[in-house]
Amino acid sequence: MGIDKLLDGVKTIAVVCNQWGDTGKGKFTDYLTADWADVIARGTGGNNAGHTVVVNGKEKVFHLLPTGIAHDSAGKITILGNGMVIDPLALVAEIDELNRECATYNNLMISKDAHAIMPWHIATDRAKYQSQSDGGIGSTGKGIGPCYEDKIGRRGITIGHLLNRDVLAEKIKRAKETHPEQQIDVEKVISDLTPAIERITPFVRDTVNEMHDFIRAGRHVLLEGAQGLLLSIEHGTDRYVTSSDCSLNGTASGVGISAKAIDLPLGIVKFPFMTRVGAGPFPTEFAGRDQEDYCAEGLKHDIFYEAKVYLGMPLDLAEVRGAQQKRNRTFLESLEREVKSYIAQHRDKIVDLFNNGSEFEQGVAIRLAAGEYGTTTGRPRRTGWTDAVAARYAVGINGPKLILTKVDALAGMREFNITCEYAIGEHVTSEFSRESGSLRQVQPVNITYNGYGEIRDIRDYDNLPRSLRRAISDFEHLTGGEVVIVSVGPDRDETIVR
Ligand code: GDP
Ligand code: IMO
Ligand code: MG
Repeated sequence: MGIDKLLDGVKTIAVVCNQWGDTGKGKFTDYLTADWADVIARGTGGNNAGHTVVVNGKEKVFHLLPTGIAHDSAGKITILGNGMVIDPLALVAEIDELNRECATYNNLMISKDAHAIMPWHIATDRAKYQSQSDGGIGSTGKGIGPCYEDKIGRRGITIGHLLNRDVLAEKIKRAKETHPEQQIDVEKVISDLTPAIERITPFVRDTVNEMHDFIRAGRHVLLEGAQGLLLSIEHGTDRYVTSSDCSLNGTASGVGISAKAIDLPLGIVKFPFMTRVGAGPFPTEFAGRDQEDYCAEGLKHDIFYEAKVYLGMPLDLAEVRGAQQKRNRTFLESLEREVKSYIAQHRDKIVDLFNNGSEFEQGVAIRLAAGEYGTTTGRPRRTGWTDAVAARYAVGINGPKLILTKVDALAGMREFNITCEYAIGEHVTSEFSRESGSLRQVQPVNITYNGYGEIRDIRDYDNLPRSLRRAISDFEHLTGGEVVIVSVGPDRDETIVR
């Protein structure tokens, strides 16, 4: 079809995730911003997100800022929408990083109505929701859930409130009453936040009205989803979810527009494997509970551990742990680059792990091959086959147009599976239940396909291996979706538009 045909007559696009996050929203926001979008807006979540952009092999990660900020110097406008929860200190840290890189952010807009993550939200999140033991959900510990709790409880503090010292003091005093378990020192909170508030004040706007103006003026508007449908508070795997509605509808309302105003909703799925980070049901997970428990140990099983133990890379783990404790970012970032280059050079070892018959090690190998470690937390992401039952459910909510990502990562695997149905005892179903207890009961029913080799250089859909094309066609039939883009690498160019 080609990108021009896909975008013909389109004024508004949303890129959302149809799984449990980390499907490449960053890559596709960047892809569509480079030549198309004028305005890029995020509507949900906060710095629990980690969106990666790769340009000419160079990686950049954003947590709060929409990835469109990388195109600020080209005059593109980036908006942090009303549905977001914003930690002012984290936002300033991200802006500081742009400063260090001499990147601009002149066209940034921050919604006055977005809610502010306050120190007690972070403390509560860490104490109540970050752990994965005893049924804990394994939150990112950024204060997201408690901040949304205050928003829904009509006692939240918005970015607009931060700008007026008296209003802010009053709001914090009330927070002290509603959070008696927290040691809130009103004056200290204000003085700690003041420098950050001063930094962000020039960017605060009524972004909902701005959005309406952009749409009325016919500008190209791109919504950058965060998290994923299966993590949505409305539609995700209850209660192992985040606290915003990260569906297409929630993303639209999070920037102040109707989902009906979106001409081209694009739902991303990783294919033919998928991931989940944090706790919760994952029917197609390799080695089931064994992998879930292993990944629940978080950084103990990070990329450094797995490269050493499963690929035999000579690494001094004690030195790594020391650097992690001291937060020696420069050392760790450089070591991570070394690990990634080691993985690329030892593809034969990955391929051995893919094909040695151990489901658990197949899961580890995919994690290593595809770099599946949390962008925000460094935790290992759990891996499993792409689930057409869950994707069919997602298509029902986010619409039929699909982008498949990370397809290149399984090069060299002898065969791969797609889950087409769930079995519950004698009964089979293609209906997805968001009820976590039910999802824990199902057994995936798979279709197996022959594996494929390197596909990163392919740019024409018809040149993809036959078994892969057959799997994609079956996936479309199973889900009711229509695959419009296949991504064969992290770089902007490594993209096939059908
Ligand atoms: P997001 O949260 O949806 O933006 O995704 P993340 O950035 O957390 O994780 C996706 C990762 O996959 C990033 O490191 C991307 O650079 C990378 N990526 C995106 N698309 C592809 C692809 O098609 N192939 C490969 N190998 N990597 C990809
Ligand atoms: P992006 O936008 C993957 C998960 C956490 C946890 C649950 C609740 O990069 O795809 P929270 O801190 O939000 O209260 O945690 O949601 N989670 C994500 N998983 N990608 C994300 O964002 C996520 N944001 C939150 O791991 O299980
Ligand atoms: Mg991510």
